[in-house]
Amino acid sequence: MATMATSAAIDLAVRGTLAFRPLSAVAGVEITGIDLAEPLAPENREAILAAFLAHHVLVFRGQHLSTERQAAFTLQFGELEDHVIRLGDGKPPPLVHVVSNLDEHGKPTAKPYSSGNYFWHTDKSYHAIPSYATLLHAVDLPPEGGDTQFANTAMAYAALPEETKQRLAGLRVVHSWEASRLNTGNRPATEDEKRDRPPVNHPLVRTHPESGEKVLYIGTHTSHIEGMDRTEGRALLAELLAHASQPQFIYTHQWREGDLVMWDNRCLLHRAVANYEMAKHKRVLHRTVIRGTAPPV
Ligand SMILES: [Fe+2]
Repeated sequence: MATMATSAAIDLAVRGTLAFRPLSAVAGVEITGIDLAEPLAPENREAILAAFLAHHVLVFRGQHLSTERQAAFTLQFGELEDHVIRLGDGKPPPLVHVVSNLDEHGKPTAKPYSSGNYFWHTDKSYHAIPSYATLLHAVDLPPEGGDTQFANTAMAYAALPEETKQRLAGLRVVHSWEASRLNTGNRPATEDEKRDRPPVNHPLVRTHPESGEKVLYIGTHTSHIEGMDRTEGRALLAELLAHASQPQFIYTHQWREGDLVMWDNRCLLHRAVANYEMAKHKRVLHRTVIRGTAPPV
């Protein structure tokens, strides 16, 4: 491929039938030449995993997957996660669940049932074993906007002054579903939800288990820093989030019909952007989440 920007990408191109096009220096690679409804050939799975490690966000174009097919594709990379949130009927959502701005009547609304996805976070950091990857498949999109942004937390950590890195070393952060609900102005966590997902703590500076890079492991699911005054700890977390979400660390994904996007929750923050008429247009995506590994203590 003449357009390849990195030696890793050139290597991927010659190993399989897939075409890879990097989307930004921060994150993102477009992948074409594959139908994800079919089982993956071993060499394609290997090429996809190499691209995942190199680019963190995979953008597969032109896919049309049923929820069953999306689950089957996801299962080729790991175990599906379940979800803590309880819906209006008191039940958890299915393993392939719907992310949308629709109300209980299926109409677009500016105040969806849960709006936590519009705040910077990394999926399920409130789990002792947080997630490896998330997959979103575009089902119904607004005519424009409704983007998803990704912030590269390895680049953000690397850009910190040395003295800040030293200050952060060894700190642990408490993450919880309860804190997440409070931080995002959603209805408070129910007693059932709190019992299902008690607070956990993780290193503030996490080492990516595959690349070995250090990343800032933060976001809107965080409560406070262990052993630090709460106000001081929360101020530091807010400062780090502001640092990590600067434009130079961000890739903005503009959705196209048929996109399936898969990203690495271990080195990225993400959020949906309300840059569309939420009360007028539908934004519906199908989501699957893959269980990861526990950050080392
Ligand atoms: Fe998310």
